[in-house]
Amino acid sequence: MKVIVLDNAAQIGEEVGKIFVNQVNNKPDSVLGLATGMSPVPTYDYMAKEYAAGNVSFKNVTTFNLDEYCDLPKSDKNSFYSFMVDNLFSRTDIDLDKVNFIDGNAEEKAECERYEKAIETAGGIDLQLLGIGTNGHIGFNEPADEFTQHTYKVKLTDSTIASNQKFFGDVPMPRYAMTMGIGSIMKAKKIVLIATGESKAKAAYAMVKGEVSPSCPASVLQNHEDAVIFLDKEAAKLL
Ligand code: GLP
Repeated sequence: MKVIVLDNAAQIGEEVGKIFVNQVNNKPDSVLGLATGMSPVPTYDYMAKEYAAGNVSFKNVTTFNLDEYCDLPKSDKNSFYSFMVDNLFSRTDIDLDKVNFIDGNAEEKAECERYEKAIETAGGIDLQLLGIGTNGHIGFNEPADEFTQHTYKVKLTDSTIASNQKFFGDVPMPRYAMTMGIGSIMKAKKIVLIATGESKAKAAYAMVKGEVSPSCPASVLQNHEDAVIFLDKEAAKLL
C-alpha cells in the first residue's frame, strides 16, 4: 500500500484524474471500477475537463460501479446511477451500453451472480476507484466479523445512514444496498482510494496503520499489490 498526502481535495482530484486518463490513453478499452460519494467528484471533474479538451476519449471503456441502493428506482435523483450520469457519464463520451450497474431492485442471488460474472467476462477491473466511509467501509462493505467475498445485499449501518441521509432530505433513505464484496474489489489490478477531510482521519488511520481486520474493511488494501491511497492533510492528520 502506497500512501500519498497532498494539500487538498482539488490536488487529489487532479492526480487521480491523471491516473485514470493515462490508464485510458494507454488502454482505450480499459475496464474501470467507479465509485460514488463526494470524494471522487474532483477526479470526475478532471476527467470531464480532459475529455472536453480532446485529450482523452472514454468511448471504448467498460465501467462497473461498486454499489447501488435497494428499493430505489434507477431514475431516482439519489440513485448512484443518477449520480454517475450527472457527475461523469453525461460529461464524457462514455458509452452507456458499456456501463454496468448492480440492479438494487432485482432478486438478490441472481443479480449478484450476474454482476460477478459480468466483471469476469469483461476481463476483470483494470483500475478501481474507491472512497472510504467514516467507519472504514469501502463500497458498502460495512465493518463485520469477516471479509465479504462476492457481490451481495447488505443492511446499512446507522453511521452510514447518518452520513448519507442528508442527500435524501426529509425522505427516509434506503436501509439496504447491493455492493461488490471485498473479494471482488481486491481482484482489481490497480486500486486508488481517496479520503479527504477530518471526518475520515480515524478511518484513514485504521486503514493504513491498523491491523488488517474486517472491523475496518479498507484495511484489507494493505494486502493488495498495487493500492495507492490519496489523503489530504486533514484525513492524514492522525498518521
Ligand atoms: C458511500 C459509498 C462509498 C463511499 C462513501 C464515502 O456510502 N457507498 O462508496 O466511499 O460513502 O462517501 P464520501 O466520499 O461522500 O465521503
